Amino acid sequence: MELIRTRAAMQQRARELRRDGVRVGLVPTMGALHAGHLSLVERVRPECGLVAASIFVNPLQFGPSEDFERYPRDLAGDVAQLERAGCGLVFAPEAPEMYAPEARTVVEVRVLQDVLCGRSRPGHFRGVATVVAKLLHLVQPDVVVFGQKDAQQAIVLRRMLRDLDWPVTMRVAPTVRDADGLALSSRNAYLTPEERRQAPLLHAALGAAQRAIEAGERRAAAALAAARAVLDTGRLLRVDYLELVETEGLRPLEQIEGEALIAVAAFLGKTRLIDNVILEVRGGSVRETELRG
Ligand code: PAJ
Repeated sequence: MELIRTRAAMQQRARELRRDGVRVGLVPTMGALHAGHLSLVERVRPECGLVAASIFVNPLQFGPSEDFERYPRDLAGDVAQLERAGCGLVFAPEAPEMYAPEARTVVEVRVLQDVLCGRSRPGHFRGVATVVAKLLHLVQPDVVVFGQKDAQQAIVLRRMLRDLDWPVTMRVAPTVRDADGLALSSRNAYLTPEERRQAPLLHAALGAAQRAIEAGERRAAAALAAARAVLDTGRLLRVDYLELVETEGLRPLEQIEGEALIAVAAFLGKTRLIDNVILEVRGGSVRETELRG
C-alpha cells in the first residue's frame, strides 16, 4: 500500500501510472471508513489495475456551524481497511496542502447545487465539486466511483463531469445498510442510543412511499404522505426535507413517471441523516433502480 501526502508526489505518481498504461480507479472519501466506503473499492476493482482512495476532510464543504472540527478522523485505521479491501494507493493530503490561502477558484453546478440538501447547506456542493475537481486532476483516474447514499452529490458530480468534458467514467454504487435498514454513515457514530433506535425510520419511510407507488399510486403528494406518516412516529426526528424529484434536473414531480428519486433528510438531535430510493416507473411497472454514471 502506497500512502501519498502531497500534491506534487501524487501528480508524479499519476504521470507514472499513465505512462505504464495502468487503468486507475479513484474512490474519493473523507475517511472514518465503513463498509459503505469499502463497497466502492469493490465496485471498481474488477475493472481497474489499481484502485486509489483519497482521504480528505474537505473544509470547503462544511458550513460554519457544521461538524468539520469533530468529524471523525482515523488515518491509520482507514489505510488498514483500504489495504484489506484491495486498494493499492491512498492519497491523504493535509488541508493546507489542498487550499492555498490565495486560492480564488471554485466549481459551481448551478441549480442542482441549490435544491434538496443545498437548501439547508448553502455552499456545500460548491465545496464538493471543487474538491472533486482537484482530486480528479491530481490522481487522473480512468474511473471514479460515488455512493448512491449521497444521490444528490452523485447527480451534481455527474453533471460537472459532463459539462466539463471530463475524460473519466463515473460509477455509482448501491447504498450499504445496517441490518435494520439504516444507511451506513460516518455520522451515525454521533447518535445516542435512543436516536439510533429511531434512525431506521428514514429507510422505513422511503419503503412506505415505495410500497404505495408499487400499489399503483402515481400522485407524488400521496406517496410522500405515506412516508411522512412513518417519519412522524419518530419523537426525536425533525424532518429537513422529504421530496420526490426526477434524477437529471432534480425537479419535483407531481405525477410519478420515469426515474424518480425519493429523498429524505432529517435531524436526530444535532445529527443530520439522509437517505433515498430511486424507482423506475413506466406505466404500471415499478422497479427499484440505481443511478447511472
Ligand atoms: P464520504 O461521506 O466519506 O463518502 C465517500 C463516498 O462513500 C461517497 O461517494 C458516498 O456516497 C459513499 N458512501 C457513504 N456512505 C455509503 C453507504 N452507506 N453506501 C454506499 N456508499 C456510501 O461523500 C463524501 O465523503 C465527500 O463529499 C467527497 C465526495 C469525498 C468529497 O469531499
